[in-house]
This record gives sequence, C-alpha cells and structure tokens, in this order.
Amino acid sequence: MKKILALVLAALMMLSATLVFASCDTPSTTDNKGAAPSASEESASDEADGTDGEKQVLKMATNAYFPPYEYYEGDKIVGIDAEIAAAIAEKLGMELVIEDMAFDSILTAVENGSVDFGMAGMTVNPDRLKSVNFTISYAKGVQVVIVKEDSPITTVDDLFADGATYKVGVQTGTTGDSYSSSDFGDARVSRYVSGNEAVAALLRGDVDCVIIDNQPAKSYVANNEGTKILATSYADEDYAICVSKTNEALLEKLDTAIYALIEDGTIAGIVAKYIKE
Ligand code: ARG
Repeated sequence: MKKILALVLAALMMLSATLVFASCDTPSTTDNKGAAPSASEESASDEADGTDGEKQVLKMATNAYFPPYEYYEGDKIVGIDAEIAAAIAEKLGMELVIEDMAFDSILTAVENGSVDFGMAGMTVNPDRLKSVNFTISYAKGVQVVIVKEDSPITTVDDLFADGATYKVGVQTGTTGDSYSSSDFGDARVSRYVSGNEAVAALLRGDVDCVIIDNQPAKSYVANNEGTKILATSYADEDYAICVSKTNEALLEKLDTAIYALIEDGTIAGIVAKYIKE
C-alpha cells in the first residue's frame, strides 16, 4: 500500500516538476551527459542485509559546500541530506558512506555506478531525468538572487530588463547555472566550484549577483557582510535523490524509505533542526 502511495507521489512530483520547469527547460552545456551507464549496479541493490553481521555499504555522492543540506563540521559531513541519508540507510539496514565531489560530477558518478545515489539538495528537472531517475521529493528549494547591499539590482526583473548587462555568478552545473545561462546567455554567466566562491566573486565585483538556492544563500549572506537576498525569487524547485536508471530496485527501496520517513515525521524533524523559521 505504502509502495503504491509512494509511486503515486513520485509520479505526481515528476509531473509537477515537469510543469514547474516546462518554461525553463533549455539544454545547458554544463549538464553531465557524457558517461554511459555501466553494468556495475550491484553494490546497493542485490542483497538484503549481510548474513554475517557485516552491513552492506550504501554509497552517496554529494558536494559538501551547501549548508544546511551538506557541509563540513570538522572532517565530518553533516546537514539535512546527511541525516536523512543516515535515516534511510538505517531503515534499509545498510552502512552509509558519503563521498564528497564537485557538484557537476555527481550525475556522472551515479550513472557510471561508482556511487549508489546522489543527494545534494539536487533539484528534479527534465534535463536530469534524461540521464538518471529521481526518488519522491523530500524538500522544496527556491532559487534566489544575492546582491551587494548597495546594488542597483532591486528585483529579479532588473536582470531581464532591456539592455541589462548584469553578470551572474553560479555554482557550476546547478540549476542556477542552467537557468541563468538560458535566460541571460552564456556571456553573462560566470561559474564557480561552490556558492561560497561565487559570493566571493560578488564581493570582489567580478559579478553583479549570485543565483543559488535560498537556504545556502542565507548562510552565505550571514557570513559575508554587505550582501543581501532580493525579496523576489527566481525559481521554485523540488529536491530529490538521484539513482542510476539501471537500478530500479534501489529506487524503489529509497522511495519506500523516504515515504515512511515523511509519514512518521522524521524528515520534518531533521529539517526543523537545521532550518529555524
Ligand atoms: N538545487 C540546485 C541544483 O540541483 C543546487 C544544488 C547544489 N548542491 C550542492 N550540494 N552544492 O542544481
């Protein structure tokens, strides 16, 4: 029963994601479509828990420069995604291992089977759905615009104004990257390895604004005096976990686990711990 509900939820979510992004689905040069799916999908999906007490490893790819979803506390990766992933692994009786990598390497790692899934505040969008599957959504995101406090940019519309030449900083391979590249043209977009680097470029005056997800944006702004977030937002999104298209069994297990963790309030509890408002 739950599985059916989860599948219905997943279908609804994908439909709504498609509707949300129908207007901005433009292929981007930064998407990862290069790697062919490999045969090595066995690590997470084949067997149930080990019989000898050894837990099977569940390997997650992330980019840990995205608070409060994933970030370092000392040498440990913590945050909403890390905790939800740990709760999922516990439900599945598996041992979670988190691998930190560049955000634009995650899809490739999932596709070629070097990790079992990607979880990185990752937005479901039609472009990505061409190369990976997504679970049901576990959180919402909003793309916002960070500017300097004295910026002439006062609303998102200013970026679209006739003759506007404002430069936009983004994290490479993110939806902020692909949407702003298609909205404003490649020449106006500068790409950085992390949101923090993009904000540093804003402070140096190399770009006029940064487009990034709202929660990390709050933390970047809190840590960088003289910056603020515009009141108008740029895009609404759904976050989900991505899995290789060749690993339907894992997708089903993750969906079932996420559904149960939504239903029993675990996910809401984790989110509330990190996001106070
Ligand atoms: N939500 C955006 C996307 O999916 C940005 C995610 C960036 N995540 C990260 N861990 N750096 O493209």
